[in-house]
Amino acid sequence: MKFAVDRRDALAGSVDIAVSGLTERGEKDEPLPRLLVKEDEVLGGLLAAAWKRREVKGRKAEVTTFHRPDGRGRILLVGLGPKANHDAEAVRRACASAVKALKGKGARTVGFRLATFAGESLASEIATRAIADGTLLGAYEFLRYRSTAEAGVEEGTVFLGPEHGREEAALRRALDQEVTLLETVIWTRDIVNLPADTATPERLAEEARQVGKEYGLKVTVLDEKKLEELHCGGLLAVGGGSVHPPRLVIVEYGGGARSGKTVAVVGKGITFDSGGISIKPAASMQDMKFDKAGACAALGIVRAAAALKLPPKVIAVMACAENLPSGTSYRPGDVVRTYNGKTIEVLNTDAEGRVVLADALGYVVDKYHPDEVIDLATLTGAEVVALGDDTAALISTDEKLAKGLLGASATSGEPLWRMPLTDFHRELVKSDIADVRNHTELTVAGVLTASAFLESFVGKTAWAHLDIAGPAYTTPSTRKWQPPYQPIGATAFGVRVVTTYLRDGTA
Ligand code: BES
Ligand code: ZN
Ligand code: ZN
Repeated sequence: MKFAVDRRDALAGSVDIAVSGLTERGEKDEPLPRLLVKEDEVLGGLLAAAWKRREVKGRKAEVTTFHRPDGRGRILLVGLGPKANHDAEAVRRACASAVKALKGKGARTVGFRLATFAGESLASEIATRAIADGTLLGAYEFLRYRSTAEAGVEEGTVFLGPEHGREEAALRRALDQEVTLLETVIWTRDIVNLPADTATPERLAEEARQVGKEYGLKVTVLDEKKLEELHCGGLLAVGGGSVHPPRLVIVEYGGGARSGKTVAVVGKGITFDSGGISIKPAASMQDMKFDKAGACAALGIVRAAAALKLPPKVIAVMACAENLPSGTSYRPGDVVRTYNGKTIEVLNTDAEGRVVLADALGYVVDKYHPDEVIDLATLTGAEVVALGDDTAALISTDEKLAKGLLGASATSGEPLWRMPLTDFHRELVKSDIADVRNHTELTVAGVLTASAFLESFVGKTAWAHLDIAGPAYTTPSTRKWQPPYQPIGATAFGVRVVTTYLRDGTA
């Protein structure tokens, strides 16, 4: 979808549908909000009448369409919810609800009247970005395997109107930046949504090579032979049961500033997680093509950083393997030696994410000496139990990095919740026969014992871990509770928050 800003009047009749936002009315008989008087004028009083009859209330996700009496298209009003909660997230959700309602309704061009979305409290730049977020992410569908699809919106415009005339250049820049980021989010969703028969570790490596070509980035793919040489026993063990051998993929973006810091972004790339010999029940297996979401997000983040020419140097590392049961699989009881020499006692082959990340983290810290390491992984079912489907767990031993990520979370609207990592969790991952164990005797605090395990492979480098098991994908049964801009399938969670962090730093 094309997206642009335009200083003209949204209601001049140049688009198929003009969309305006409206906050929720209270109980009293208040008049139609002043911001919508223009819409009512064009509609010849129809809106005020509907408001009076309480047909239009401004409730969250409420969508009402009017045909203009002058025949120049339609006006869609979308509810923003209560005025007291009017923020960027309310705008994202409203625009996603609007664009979804327009699917198959013959609306090719759609225009948003900025003033009605910014309201009295939101900065116009924030509202502009949020309109783009909601619209582009809400309109997303994974169409690769469908032979038919309903036509949706093709062109979006944020109409500034005379009130934002002086801000035009700044708003255009903000929108262009946001659209560039969103294009990568959508690109990432497309890869995460690929099924495991197609998205093999080698295919993910190929996607990385393509990104490298397109943006001029250095890409290194370590295949199974090279992984042997480097003693990456974690990746080799987890990938050992599959005919599709594991890959460690490194993509380097040189940064926009000479003195910029180096941030490593490491992702779990399990192309399918059957659990291995510790096999999962069928119902827990059907979504496990999404177990590569962390690695794809890491690739998305370096792609976005390059496209936006962000200041930090970024090293994306994708730890890719397929976890299947077979005669060549690793087993419970095995001891695995990883890249940095540390050993892992495998007690459950379904706790495989931490085993591949052990190699990836050890490797990137040793080879690149990054200032900061951020890893993303659909690591534990315990994360979903603890925080649900919309929020990722943030675990960090570095205050500055944690604060920076929480700030970026507030800006981007990707929710993070910080959880504590203590010696209690560190004790639990100690092994009797190896350095660490991948499964604990006491099955408590699953998010945090997994974090303690990862921490032991990072050492002293500033580090943050994002367990994205809940928000990485939407299923038909969780859709009801997810924001309307996270449609069924991959969400590409992490790309927006981490890219925002790289852009804004420790703001
Ligand atoms: N990929 C799963 C975690 C997961 C579960 C992601 C549900 C998304 C939704 C991971 O590899 C796994 O199986 N973890 C185990 C760890 C346990 C054996 C210690 C889990 O959470 O049950
Ligand atoms: Zn698993
Ligand atoms: Zn997994």
